[in-house]
Amino acid sequence: MSKKTTSGNPATTRRNFIAGAAATGGLAAASTFIPTRFAIGAQAPIKVGIMLPFSGTYAKLGENITDAMMMRIAQAGGMLGGRNVDYIKLDSEAAPPKAVDNATKLVKGRKVDFVVGPVHSGVGMAMTKVMKKAPKTIMVVPNAGANQLTREACAPNIFRTSFSNWQTSYPMGTELHKRGHKKIVTLTWNYAAGKQMADAVAQGYSDAGGDASGIEKLWVDFPSVSFQPLLTKIAAIKPDAVWVFFSGGGAVKFVKDYAASIDKAQIPLYGTFVTEGTLQAQGAAAEGIVTTMHWADTLDNPVNHKFMADFKTASGRNADVFAVQGYDTGSLLLLAMAAVGGDTTATPEIIKAMENTIVEGPRGPWRMSPTHNPIQNIYLRRVENGRNVILGVAHEALEDPGTGCKL
Ligand code: BEZ
Repeated sequence: MSKKTTSGNPATTRRNFIAGAAATGGLAAASTFIPTRFAIGAQAPIKVGIMLPFSGTYAKLGENITDAMMMRIAQAGGMLGGRNVDYIKLDSEAAPPKAVDNATKLVKGRKVDFVVGPVHSGVGMAMTKVMKKAPKTIMVVPNAGANQLTREACAPNIFRTSFSNWQTSYPMGTELHKRGHKKIVTLTWNYAAGKQMADAVAQGYSDAGGDASGIEKLWVDFPSVSFQPLLTKIAAIKPDAVWVFFSGGGAVKFVKDYAASIDKAQIPLYGTFVTEGTLQAQGAAAEGIVTTMHWADTLDNPVNHKFMADFKTASGRNADVFAVQGYDTGSLLLLAMAAVGGDTTATPEIIKAMENTIVEGPRGPWRMSPTHNPIQNIYLRRVENGRNVILGVAHEALEDPGTGCKL
């Protein structure tokens, strides 16, 4: 594997470097791998299975991930390692009980080379059962944050381009303590993502010196949007801060319901994902909400500016963090396939290329941790005039602890 980079920056010499929107030539040049094992079938398209939600509360997340990934690959010529691409879309329905069957359909039934998915943590955990029995098929997780995916359930063929649930929310605990909040309520969907994010908030708060035993944790079943009884409870508790995780359609409803029944000036609202990709629909109800996230629409770098403009043109929608994750997934596939000249049988080399990557995407440069999870900045943001405006870096180059991963 070549140690060359496209940046010329000595700091990046151990890694292939993807320079955002315009690096196709660089990607191809970054490899000295000579495909020897494949010739027959080299002209056949590479199969990319896309297992994402295209219905239900997370439907827009799945759409944005898909469109941005396809846009990235199209911008680079529409091929992976010189081969055409066959995209096979399957609606995961964000339904964990259907995940094993769905993943099996793609891996065994359609014999895909890559599986891109999912969004939902519970679906992701179930999918690992299939992926671990198919070590030559690479899974790229473009959203699902289940900590286990890059901890105890990690595997050489599982990569994540998004975040771990811990990573997004640990810095919020630190921030809540810094702001002097003492009586805190957390409220989220009662499944892996919500639980792990709420735990990470409590851990960050406690590590910063706060007493996390006083945090009151409230739950609602996924994907229920019956928030009113919980808002009534919050009004009775009178906390001095509320933190929530909701996303997609559920986040739109929650933010509107909160604004209708609680005065944000009295009980400020903090969150993870709750204002992501939903600001237009939430309108004035979202103003002032403070969140932590690994991207923001106001992030000032040239790759982000171009990406946001291109995504708007291509899809007619505003970009969000889910589109960013899809875009970076496209970058990772481009890099890996360029490194092996399109040889999908070269699994060890594909894995090595993905591990030794600095992705210069819309969120800024990030690289894979040893457990295959992005090491990335987490930003503190506040909704101002319909945009997630960056207040500062909540945690620089944050790496998930990766506890229990044995690759
Ligand atoms: C999850 O289930 O991991 C998840 C879903 C939507 C947004 C963020 C995380």
